[in-house]
Amino acid sequence: MGCLAPHPPHVVYAENPEQNEAFSEGGWETLRWGYNRLARKLKAIDYDAMVIFTPHWQTYIGTHFLGLSEFKSKSVDPVFPNIFRFNYDISVDVDLAEKMCEVAGESGIITKMMRNPDFRIDYGTITSCHMLNPEWDKPLVTISSNSNAHYYSPEVMNEQASALGEACARAIEESGKKVVLISSHSLSHRHFVTESPLPEDMSREHIYNHSQYVWDMKLVDMMRSGKMREVIDIMPEFTEQTIAETEAGGLTWMMAAMGYPDYPAEIYGYQSVIGTGNLIAAWDPMESTREIVL
Ligand SMILES: [Fe+2]
Repeated sequence: MGCLAPHPPHVVYAENPEQNEAFSEGGWETLRWGYNRLARKLKAIDYDAMVIFTPHWQTYIGTHFLGLSEFKSKSVDPVFPNIFRFNYDISVDVDLAEKMCEVAGESGIITKMMRNPDFRIDYGTITSCHMLNPEWDKPLVTISSNSNAHYYSPEVMNEQASALGEACARAIEESGKKVVLISSHSLSHRHFVTESPLPEDMSREHIYNHSQYVWDMKLVDMMRSGKMREVIDIMPEFTEQTIAETEAGGLTWMMAAMGYPDYPAEIYGYQSVIGTGNLIAAWDPMESTREIVL
């Protein structure tokens, strides 16, 4: 199964988990309730690990994989330290990460295992994984994003991320494990420029640019119609016009790993957070459990 799981730290802040130091009065319920529903579905299926591709672990030489069995520290959002200071304790499926690193390396992709015990886990990984599995009872494999869009172009990003997705799928098949893939990012990514005094004041939360909204809805329609090959084909244009975090390659990676689904995506919610367009969606390859959620 694959999940598009946006990572504004606001949704973790709004949930008030014991790991986060900040306290909120709520907010962003449309997104959080969608996440809660998808988390319940994940509870009901049998899988071994979560494999997450994050745009907030950027590597400039190759693709890196977390390579120690435990990472424990505090993650502070660099833009919103007022709402996100999260004490994490993450377990990693190192065998699966090494297998992905090896298979991707054999296919010509530059790879490296991250073995620094003091390495700080990015808030994208923490937010998406917390919202999908608040019990934190599954090991992770976290994959960095190599900044091909920065170096070259979104077209090169699309090709490189596809190759990485195909390699990761081969590694997963060879491992014999069952995994949930996670692509951690929003859709359109235009931020507001003035933060409200109370972050969870929902009277201030809305999209700030209609063109961005129209792009997001276009993508949702295509996802509902099972047109993921077409979505990936237009990813370079979408990425440039909406300054989207898809520039890191997460959605392309996940769709390539899943063989570009031609069945409908499950839509769990869409909401603006600081003006960015956030969609929660999932691709369930099992027809017997695939649902029309929204
Ligand atoms: Fe982000």
